[in-house]
Amino acid sequence: MEYTTLGSTGMEVSQICLGGMSFGTDREWMLDREESRELIERAIDLGITFFDTANVYSAGESEEILGDVLADYDRDELVVASKVRFPGASDHRNARGLSRKTIEQELEHTLDRLGMETLDCYQIHRWDYETPIETTLRALDDAVRRGKVRHIGASSMWAHQFLEARRVSERDGLATFETMQNLYHLAYREAERETVPVCRRENVGIIPWSPLAAGYLARPHEEFRTTVRAEHEVENADVPYHEFPASSEINDRVRELADEYDATMAQIALAWHFENDDVTAPIVGTSSVEHLEEAVEALEISLSASDVDYLEAPYEPVPVYGHE
Ligand SMILES: NC(=O)c1ccc[n+]([C@@H]2O[C@H](COP(=O)([O-])OP(=O)(O)OC[C@H]3O[C@@H](n4cnc5c(N)ncnc54)[C@H](OP(=O)(O)O)[C@@H]3O)[C@@H](O)[C@H]2O)c1
Repeated sequence: MEYTTLGSTGMEVSQICLGGMSFGTDREWMLDREESRELIERAIDLGITFFDTANVYSAGESEEILGDVLADYDRDELVVASKVRFPGASDHRNARGLSRKTIEQELEHTLDRLGMETLDCYQIHRWDYETPIETTLRALDDAVRRGKVRHIGASSMWAHQFLEARRVSERDGLATFETMQNLYHLAYREAERETVPVCRRENVGIIPWSPLAAGYLARPHEEFRTTVRAEHEVENADVPYHEFPASSEINDRVRELADEYDATMAQIALAWHFENDDVTAPIVGTSSVEHLEEAVEALEISLSASDVDYLEAPYEPVPVYGHE
């Protein structure tokens, strides 16, 4: 495993973050408790120290499962991030959004489920158009001051919103967002227009979600819909990676380089993140120990600059996805 620093937090994290969206029973493709335990334990064996979850994943079950497994390890070594904005175990008006009430209540539930007194990083799971950002930041800052949260982060939003939030924190002396969890991978690079340069300039750690385009970059274009998860993505998720104009060409090039490097497509798509100086750690989502092992092995691949250019060359701009 390789380790790096998570933006301005100074925390050391593994260069792979394990995503918790697949822990739970919300969907057919997810892992139950025992299967999740096996995956998380293997991740720790492999040196992964960074975990991402959210109150919304399987209505809190993901946090419970992660907390249960991590209880058997030295928590001081591990970095756990969770999120708030979508409803957790219960769905009502005050379980959603980023009001002080929601943040305080949901943070208590998150800490209970994780069995932790302090969360390393608490991220807002998108912008809340109903609550002034000052209110949200004051509630988050109080959580930091009360010792419930160490750092705060954000996820998928417009760069101007993220910067506005950072300037409000600076102006009012409040905790500031130090991480950005955004949609960013070879087939979707809109973040490079504004969010990535902003994060680079402000020393914010970028931790991309869906780094393999929810599996699209892990197998040939025409085979995308061959898994239960992909069927779910095509039917329910709102990002049609497989229909973007350049996607099939990018997918072909990933496949071609996989052959050249004697690697899998997923490994090449991840190696692109590892070569990218703006990315701290992709959040890998998998339900398979074998795929997790492949992800870790991908750290050993060193893509040449010309191969990175080759993978990036076909990209064409697409509408912004992942947030409103
Ligand atoms: N902030 C947000 O709004 C947001 C949104 C979405 C996700 N997330 C976070 O990001 C994490 C990752 O998201 P994601 O699951 O969409 O990530 P992803 O890594 O882009 O996609 C996961 C998919 O890729 C497949 N895959 C992974 N490795 C593979 C390999 N070596 N070979 C073949 N297929 C492979 C997985 O199949 P297998 O299960 O068979 O391996 C799974 O279907 C989540 O767990 C969550 O923590 C955050």
